[in-house]
Amino acid sequence: TMKLHLKGDAICTLLLTITFCALLYFHLKIPSGPSWQSLQTHKKKPLDKIRLFTEAEVLEDRLSQVLDTPICQPNLKVLGSDLQTSTLSATMTPPSFNFRQYLRNKDCRDFKLIINQPNKCKKAQGDLFLLIAIKSVVEEFERREVVRKTWGKEGLLNGVQIQSLFLLGIPKNQTALPLWKSLMNYESQTYGDILMWDFLDTFFNLTLKEINFLKWASTFCPNTKFVFKGDTDIFVNMENIVDFLSGQNPVEDFFLGQAIFYAQPIRLKKSKYFIPEMMFGQPAYPTYVGGGGFLMSGYTMKRLYQACQQVELFPIDDVFLGMCLLRLGLQPVSHDGFRTFGIPRPSAAPHMHTFDPCFYKDLMVVHGLKPAEIWLMWNLLRDPGLTCTRKKLVSRPFRWKTSNRSKETVMQQDIIEH
Ligand SMILES: *[C@@H]1O[C@H](CO)[C@@H](O)[C@H](O)[C@H]1NC(C)=O
Ligand SMILES: *[C@@H]1O[C@H](CO)[C@@H](O)[C@H](O)[C@H]1NC(C)=O
Repeated sequence: TMKLHLKGDAICTLLLTITFCALLYFHLKIPSGPSWQSLQTHKKKPLDKIRLFTEAEVLEDRLSQVLDTPICQPNLKVLGSDLQTSTLSATMTPPSFNFRQYLRNKDCRDFKLIINQPNKCKKAQGDLFLLIAIKSVVEEFERREVVRKTWGKEGLLNGVQIQSLFLLGIPKNQTALPLWKSLMNYESQTYGDILMWDFLDTFFNLTLKEINFLKWASTFCPNTKFVFKGDTDIFVNMENIVDFLSGQNPVEDFFLGQAIFYAQPIRLKKSKYFIPEMMFGQPAYPTYVGGGGFLMSGYTMKRLYQACQQVELFPIDDVFLGMCLLRLGLQPVSHDGFRTFGIPRPSAAPHMHTFDPCFYKDLMVVHGLKPAEIWLMWNLLRDPGLTCTRKKLVSRPFRWKTSNRSKETVMQQDIIEH
């Protein structure tokens, strides 16, 4: 048995040695040979992706040096009235910093306006009180129609002038909408409320919409007292907004919405909001407000336009605006009446339908409504017969008008021509 044991040990050692040698052999061979396995691991390595990215960047940079222009492909030839971007950027670009120019070239942030409304704010008698700017896409014709007829209505509201605009880019699927150019030209001629830029209208290009709107407003609407910016799928209690703004100073810094504090960047690759660490390495975003609907003064609008020019493009538009605010050292104010993440059903009254007008009468902005719901809510709240029994326990900054006053408003609005 002793002999057998020894023999077994020897065989074991031999086997182990062979395995070790084989492993060593393959280990040495893999990097040199273009085997399937090595290609797979090569592809998966994030480092290589980063290297490729910078190589492309370097190439792009070299190309732009040769051509002396940014590599920003225009999407479309001029449609109608046209903003003279060449003279604009000549006066607004400080020529000193090479670094900034490099960033501008790399990021391609100034896009041509292909549908403009240069006289939008001149139409208002005296200074415009509120400019409403609504992010939309070409496909949302029905949503724009509802907003025009409800909370986004232009004209006088409680004695102050309101004008509205829709902010659009080029539709990303043009085969689905072959007549989009004619539609947009016609819509613009009919309503005079379309702004369209020559960039693809995608989720990650919303930041481009933000900065190009700030540029437009600073150029064509510098004297508006306030700006409301929002989405098409919100309900806005415009009377509450106007009421609230009447107590604000338009030539002071003012930025208000639903503030989000210490939000952490999402590192899940599957998420719509995924941000890799190479793009934003800090553990939390600066305070920002939900992009569904927010308010600012005309003064802050112009300052933000300047500040955002110095912030590197960031694909999430409301976070980007938070970065611009941080640059100004401005802390956005959070308001309870802004529900940009929708409203949860009240736990104290689970029987109550969230689609109850009494639920909306003290709010300013509610996000996530369908066009028919916006229309219905707007009309229900305007109903002189509306009585809300639920009395507020605490004093609220905003109160719904008495039925007499809303009748007065309706009458005023009827006089305004559209
Ligand atoms: C664009 O729209 C067409 C027609 O609706 C559709 O067949 C196609 O799949 C869409 N393309 C993309 C990339 O979504
Ligand atoms: C943004 O728009 C530009 C210009 O149309 C386009 O080249 C780019 O692909 C778009 N970016 C995203 C992330 O959609």
